Amino acid sequence: MEYNSCEKEFKNIVNNIMENKDFMEIVNCKHHGITRLEHSLRVSYYSYKVSKLLHLNVRETARAGLLHDFFINSDLMGKSSKERIFLHPKKALEKASNRFVLSDMEKDIIYSHMFPLIPTRPPKYLEGWVVSIVDKLVAIYEFANSYSKICMFKSQYAAILFIILAKRGL
Ligand SMILES: [Fe+2]
Ligand SMILES: [Fe+2]
Repeated sequence: MEYNSCEKEFKNIVNNIMENKDFMEIVNCKHHGITRLEHSLRVSYYSYKVSKLLHLNVRETARAGLLHDFFINSDLMGKSSKERIFLHPKKALEKASNRFVLSDMEKDIIYSHMFPLIPTRPPKYLEGWVVSIVDKLVAIYEFANSYSKICMFKSQYAAILFIILAKRGL
């Protein structure tokens, strides 16, 4: 998803985060077969759209949606993938709080976004439910997309192999 294609109001809300060099380090992290920045931007933008539709707080939804996975892989070095699921919301909250002034709602959205995988942390705000649900739907879309790209690559490879073998009369 292209940041430039997002609407102006959204860009005005998240612009200072997108210009932060520490935050932009997540562009170097792989996440669901794409970059963590692309995933975070997609979650933020669609959460913003849903919040707008439901007349919720679009600003806090968009900002917290963008910051919900704010960590780089070395922040959780040595942790298993299971531990990362439980630890990354806290790490994202810690990093975001150190760099931006966050409201209580934004803090809660980031901290609770892994519900129901972390069942003890349900979102306190409707905006948190939006980000949590959009995050899951976006993750399913991104996994399916990267899996279909792998399948497409494999089928193209198989087709080329088939043509070579056919030409050789095998
Ligand atoms: Fe996450
Ligand atoms: Fe996420």
